[in-house]
Amino acid sequence: VPSTIRAARADDLDVLVGLLGLLFTMEADFRPDAARQRRGLEAMLADPQRRIVLVAEASGRVVGMGTGQLVVSTAEGGPSLLVEDVVLEESARGQGTGRALLAALEAWARARGASRLQLLVDLENRPALGFYRRLGWQATQLMALRRLL
Ligand SMILES: CC(C)(COP(=O)(O)OP(=O)(O)OC[C@H]1O[C@@H](n2cnc3c(N)ncnc32)[C@H](O)[C@@H]1OP(=O)(O)O)[C@@H](O)C(=O)NCCC(=O)NCCS
Repeated sequence: VPSTIRAARADDLDVLVGLLGLLFTMEADFRPDAARQRRGLEAMLADPQRRIVLVAEASGRVVGMGTGQLVVSTAEGGPSLLVEDVVLEESARGQGTGRALLAALEAWARARGASRLQLLVDLENRPALGFYRRLGWQATQLMALRRLL
C-alpha cells in the first residue's frame, strides 16, 4: 500500500514516540526516553515556522516519520534544513516511503528558501548510508562532536 505523507498532529505523538524509540535503540549514541522524545516533538509542533514533523501513513495508520529544522548557515548565506528522526516501522521499509518522506522534507525546505539539507547518520548504519547515497546525498569530511550538559 503506498504511503501518504502529511504534517504530524498532536494525536500522532504516541506513535511517533514509539518510532523514535526504535531509532534510538538502533543508534549507539542515543537511548530511548519516551518523556524526552514527547517533549522534543511537542517543541517542534509548537514552532511550525522553523520546524516540521512529517508522518507517513499507510492504510490510515502512521508507519513512519521524519523531522526538519531550519538553521541559518553562514556558509550558504541563508537557511539550511537539519533533517533528523527519519524512521519507518520495519514492515513499511523498502517500498519508497523513505524516499517520499525525504522529498517532502526537501520541498518544505525549498519553499522556505533553504539551499542545503544536512543530517547525521550512525557510521555503522549501512542500510541508511546506502539509502541516502541513492537519494543523492554526499558524505562530508565533518565529524559530529557533542558535549552533554
Ligand atoms: C532508512 C529508511 C528510512 C529508508 O526508507 P525506505 O522506505 O526503506 O527506503 P525507500 O524504499 O524509500 O528507498 C529509496 C531508495 O533507496 C534505495 N535504498 C534503500 N535502502 C538501501 C540500501 N541499504 N542500500 C542501497 N540503496 C538503498 C532503494 O532501493 C530506493 O531506490 P529507488 O527509489 O531508486 O528504487 C528505512 O529503511 C528505515 O526506517 N530504517 C531504519 C531507521 C534508520 O536507519 N533511519 C535513518 C536514520 S539516519
